[in-house]
Amino acid sequence: MKEANPTNSNNRPMRVISITGGKGGIGKTTISVNLSIAYAKMGKKVLLFDADLGLANVDVMLGLKPAKNLHDYLCGACAFDEICITGPHGLKIIPAASGVQKMAELSSMEAVELIRSFSTLTDAIDVMIVDMASGISSQVIDFTHASQDILVVICNDPASLMDSYAVIKILHQKYGRDRFGIVVNKAKNMQEAFDVFSKFQDVIARFINVSMHYLGHVPHDDYIGMSARERVPVVDKFPFSDSAVSFHQLCHGINHWHQDPTVAGGIHFFFERLVESNLAVKEQLCKA
Ligand SMILES: Nc1ncnc2c1ncn2[C@@H]1O[C@H](COP(=O)(O)OP(=O)(O)O)[C@@H](O)[C@H]1O
Ligand SMILES: [Mg+2]
Repeated sequence: MKEANPTNSNNRPMRVISITGGKGGIGKTTISVNLSIAYAKMGKKVLLFDADLGLANVDVMLGLKPAKNLHDYLCGACAFDEICITGPHGLKIIPAASGVQKMAELSSMEAVELIRSFSTLTDAIDVMIVDMASGISSQVIDFTHASQDILVVICNDPASLMDSYAVIKILHQKYGRDRFGIVVNKAKNMQEAFDVFSKFQDVIARFINVSMHYLGHVPHDDYIGMSARERVPVVDKFPFSDSAVSFHQLCHGINHWHQDPTVAGGIHFFFERLVESNLAVKEQLCKA
């Protein structure tokens, strides 16, 4: 299928980055939202895909109230453009909610139709950020694999490190993914963040043959909670706070992290991988 992408500012297929990490509460949604806004403020065209069914959803964090979500579209209850909402700085948001479950059940034909709908929207998009649900269920893993680049959030906490280790191990064993970007969240300072990354990298290197790229850190910052309570992302509410500055630095870290050359970007390939993994599951079920 032709990769139409005539007007994005990179003049190349949209980069698709999933924000994952296994454990809940480590800041995946906070990072997805603030990173998206930081990119949008840099003049990038951003699509934020909310694949998190948890409580602190993207729309809640942005003070938006979507009338419809991807599930309504997949059930034929509304047109595609009705589900896409526009947030601050022109950020586009797809509230997926229960649609993620339904996406895991799409047939190839339905997926083609979905790709067509998305393509009308994503031709001009530079980067799609996917806010992943917590956990290491096959749905979360398959959805993460659909992304070209995988950004794993870790915190200085054994449970977070164990879960992130599991995410990387499963993605490597199941799909051969061997390249991960790492962000340390809720760090006391830059030094602690880098120490946490180094220890994590050492453990991974002992057991799994993957490359890890340190993309930066976000400090523990009370301004994040304060802005979340007002439903405004910290990069907008307190643009000079330490965390807001770190989100902008994270954008630069990601820009210097080359797109995975072995995994295609663009929306078509995102859905192709998703459907491929569905078909593999269906085949297994038929055999059983
Ligand atoms: N760097 C940070 N400093 C302070 N609080 C944070 C930070 N990152 C996230 N939080 C808070 O942690 C909680 C969980 O964050 P959230 O983004 O919903 O996590 P997840 O999406 O991984 O479940 C929220 O209350 C959020 O405001
Ligand atoms: Mg979340």
